[in-house]
Amino acid sequence: MSEYPYLRLRRTRSTGWSRALHRETVLTPADLIWPLFVTEGKGVEDPVGSLPGVSRWSMDSIAERAKEAVSLGIPCVALFPNTPPALRDDLGREAHNPDNLMCRAIRTIKDAVGDDLGVLTDVALDPYTSHGQDGLLDDAGYVANDATVEALVGQALVQAEAGADIVAPSDMMDGRIGAIRDGLEDSGHANVQIMAYAAKYASAFYGPFRDAVGSGGLLKGDKKTYQMDPANGAEALREVALDIAEGADSVMVKPGLPYLDIVRRVHEVFEVPVFAYHVSGEYAMIEAAAAAGAGDRDALVLEVMTAFKRAGASGVLTYYAAHAARLLGG
Ligand code: PBG
Repeated sequence: MSEYPYLRLRRTRSTGWSRALHRETVLTPADLIWPLFVTEGKGVEDPVGSLPGVSRWSMDSIAERAKEAVSLGIPCVALFPNTPPALRDDLGREAHNPDNLMCRAIRTIKDAVGDDLGVLTDVALDPYTSHGQDGLLDDAGYVANDATVEALVGQALVQAEAGADIVAPSDMMDGRIGAIRDGLEDSGHANVQIMAYAAKYASAFYGPFRDAVGSGGLLKGDKKTYQMDPANGAEALREVALDIAEGADSVMVKPGLPYLDIVRRVHEVFEVPVFAYHVSGEYAMIEAAAAAGAGDRDALVLEVMTAFKRAGASGVLTYYAAHAARLLGG
């Protein structure tokens, strides 16, 4: 080695100041989107059993979380409702109620913090259907594309009307981005953005989320007829291309860590804002490792979030958003 002193890459790593100087990727609280679960009641913090440290919040508590996000420098929250079981039906009608949990939460947050915080809303029927699927079933029990798209447009419009800044369809129906874009333009909501869950995989990492919104116990079967096959990569690029062509402002890859290659390819091929969703099962894995003494939670969280940025993500949806922002001094 001594004959080739110019080959010593380690030299720049020898001190903290030098590592800081040569760092290629910088993670800040502004890279984080914080998913929050909303529930009925007053003063409620209802812990999600399979997600230690994550709770469902009632309206008053959700306003507090919104203020916390702003004070931590987190730019955006993502809302998911735990709809009371009595309001779920085969058509997911509650999704269209302008006073449903989601719409009340949007208004509550906007009243509390205005435009200091972006509000991203989930567009899909699973928190509202009695069968736990993201769409409407035909007579054979198949999730029907076009009827579902129509329902999703209605759902997105009540959210936009309530004040959503970004609507985020997580349903994986074909053609829904264009249909929602048209709906927004035609109803005076041209400035509402769409973040498309463009490459969303039929993943085994969603279990705790389904507990959190209460759809897990209802779901029969799986979502493989509309969510992507984990074996496919090129297909993700076709999904992204369609969603951009139909008017998506940004796209998402989900889950996160097992699909970093997809994040990278989308970033390099399309150069559009791409977000990664570090999903519930990934969060639960870190919590389990930390609880078992198999890893240091804080170090794991910062390493994972930095890896998303290094791969090319514009930002990350993560249940660790507030925790990571605190670690970053936000
Ligand atoms: C469903 C939806 C899911 C998630 C976000 N939106 C689960 C699913 O597709 O069944 C998962 C998020 C997570 O696991 O953290 N529309």
